[in-house]
Amino acid sequence: MTEHAFPPARILGIETSCDETAAAVVEDGRNLLSNVVASQAELHAKYGGVFPEVASRQHISTMYSVVDEALSQAHLSLDDIDAIAVTQGPGLPGSLVVGLNMAKGLALGSGKPLVGVHHLEGHLYSPWILDTPEGEEPEPEPGFPLLALLVSGGHTELVLMTGHLKYERLGATLDDAAGEAFDKVARLLGLGYPGGPKIQQAAENGDPAAFKFPRAWLEGTWDFSFSGLKTAVLHQVRRLRAYLGEDEDDESVDLPVADLAASFQMAVVDVLVTKARYAAQEFKAKELLVAGGVSANKLLREMIVRGATGRVHIPPLYLCTDNAAMIAAAGYYRFVHQQRSGLEIDALPTWPLDEVG
Ligand code: KG4
Ligand code: ZN
Repeated sequence: MTEHAFPPARILGIETSCDETAAAVVEDGRNLLSNVVASQAELHAKYGGVFPEVASRQHISTMYSVVDEALSQAHLSLDDIDAIAVTQGPGLPGSLVVGLNMAKGLALGSGKPLVGVHHLEGHLYSPWILDTPEGEEPEPEPGFPLLALLVSGGHTELVLMTGHLKYERLGATLDDAAGEAFDKVARLLGLGYPGGPKIQQAAENGDPAAFKFPRAWLEGTWDFSFSGLKTAVLHQVRRLRAYLGEDEDDESVDLPVADLAASFQMAVVDVLVTKARYAAQEFKAKELLVAGGVSANKLLREMIVRGATGRVHIPPLYLCTDNAAMIAAAGYYRFVHQQRSGLEIDALPTWPLDEVG
């Protein structure tokens, strides 16, 4: 249990914005009582990415049992829950609707309040969730102002958080998200989906300085761009194929995948870490927070901590990729700030973070 400035509450979180069907119970925004994630990654692997129709159908078939499991793992019934938090957007329309309908049905049936949550706000709150080993002191909560680097499959943003639920979007990617770049380059190197973990694994035995891939610094802005880097990897692969094989499309060539993966990974992480650190200085944020699927990346986790002057908050690996615990944690802060959603709320597939109310 942690000391809190806010009243106690248990929140059931539901997340279905992309290809994970997830439900979780979080107490007081920090204590994880259960966390169930049914990943569809294997189903989508054969398409090389998320297939929206398949995703929504799969959400429908697993949603009910995932919620049931989250409550039973927490040894609770719906009566013990204070509110139901659900991802309202952004995400795939057909996927979002499944979670929303489940949450609305539960809210209607139980009379418990419904709280719509922004998916990225969920990622931002993931480091609030405690992951303290037995016998150790719980980590203090992140403090404001903090600079957050949000890096997922769909988004790459620098966000200044000046208080609970207060987000100022400083910059974002102009083209591919960091996770998307990992996924696309992994496909290019024949490593499969999801690309992030595959690139990380391939890069383990590679030399990050083997290839000089470009960094798009976009100086004078807090924005990012990764499509030039992706194209540079593609051209390098073609040059290698032409040099080592018959021609630039010769797929029989044994590529130096480890070096390519390590050099690409370093190029992405270098820009992310450098810009996040400068932004923290510029906006006088003492603490840094990294969240979203790409925050699972080992090199990013090491480089963001190395040389940091203040505290750095990164979720444990199981809370980096999509989950409902983070939605419950963010939902808790909306709930204790008296925010409620009506049963008529719709999915918001494209919803900028700084437009959340
Ligand atoms: O946050 P998330 O689960 O879903 C979205 O909201 O998009 O992020 C998924 C993304 C994928 O692009 C995946 O390749 C990337 O996170 N990812 C990683 C790693 N693990 C997942 N990227 C780099 N290194 C990793 N270890
Ligand atoms: Zn996400």
